[in-house]
Amino acid sequence: MSKTKTKQEEETLTVKIYIMGSAHEVPASLTIMKAMEYAGFKIKRGAGCRAGFCGACATLYRKAGDYRIYAALACQTQVEDGMVLTQLPFVPAPKAIYDVDSLKPTASSILKFYPEVARCLSCNACSKVCPQEIQVMDYVQYCLQGQIDKAAELSFDCVQCGLCAIRCPAEIPQYHVGMLARRLHGKYNTSTPETLLERVEEIENGTFEEGFEELMSLSKDGLKKRYTERDFVDQKKA
Ligand code: SF4
Ligand code: SF4
Ligand code: FES
Repeated sequence: MSKTKTKQEEETLTVKIYIMGSAHEVPASLTIMKAMEYAGFKIKRGAGCRAGFCGACATLYRKAGDYRIYAALACQTQVEDGMVLTQLPFVPAPKAIYDVDSLKPTASSILKFYPEVARCLSCNACSKVCPQEIQVMDYVQYCLQGQIDKAAELSFDCVQCGLCAIRCPAEIPQYHVGMLARRLHGKYNTSTPETLLERVEEIENGTFEEGFEELMSLSKDGLKKRYTERDFVDQKKA
């Protein structure tokens, strides 16, 4: 019969993980990112927001007694006993340069810059690896069919971690393809909100110049003080 652990027992529980081949005993409650730092690694690349939004912390790992390679965001995944870890500094998948104003929201626009999309094998490896649980294969297929609105919607939660591209046998940089779909959708299939137009006009009229100048004149400590004392809007309640 399993005994439920007390809070104190949970806090003192440790697991053994392996980083670059060496074993480290770390608190079981830590994320992979915090465990690596606890073990003494200074993460220079592969960390950003530390909160699951920026996609900078793509990580590959193996579990004890399991041949498979797992992938995750290091800042969002708790360590497990026997984990063997490798952190990826970044995913340098080629990103096309284009002028979205000169394109149309069609499959041809996608294929012009990402012809490899036509090679999709429908293996679904990309969807399986995605830490955001996005149906990556489906948005790639929507792009191929010219359903840019659906591709944009389905890829909306992408954090650009690049793990899908790493697993793709057709070498498709899905996250760049999704970004192009969202740009095309935003430009051609949606109307510009009135509030955005108003704000652009305010900026162009210099409404915020005085405030910017005041901020620029503050010392480092003054800026810190202003930041911590700022009005905070709770997005959940707003
Ligand atoms: S779609 Fe690809 S790049 Fe975007 S979050 Fe999922 S795995 Fe990461
Ligand atoms: S991993 Fe590549 S080939 Fe496989 S479904 Fe995804 S995009 Fe297509
Ligand atoms: S550090 Fe930004 S998602 Fe992990």
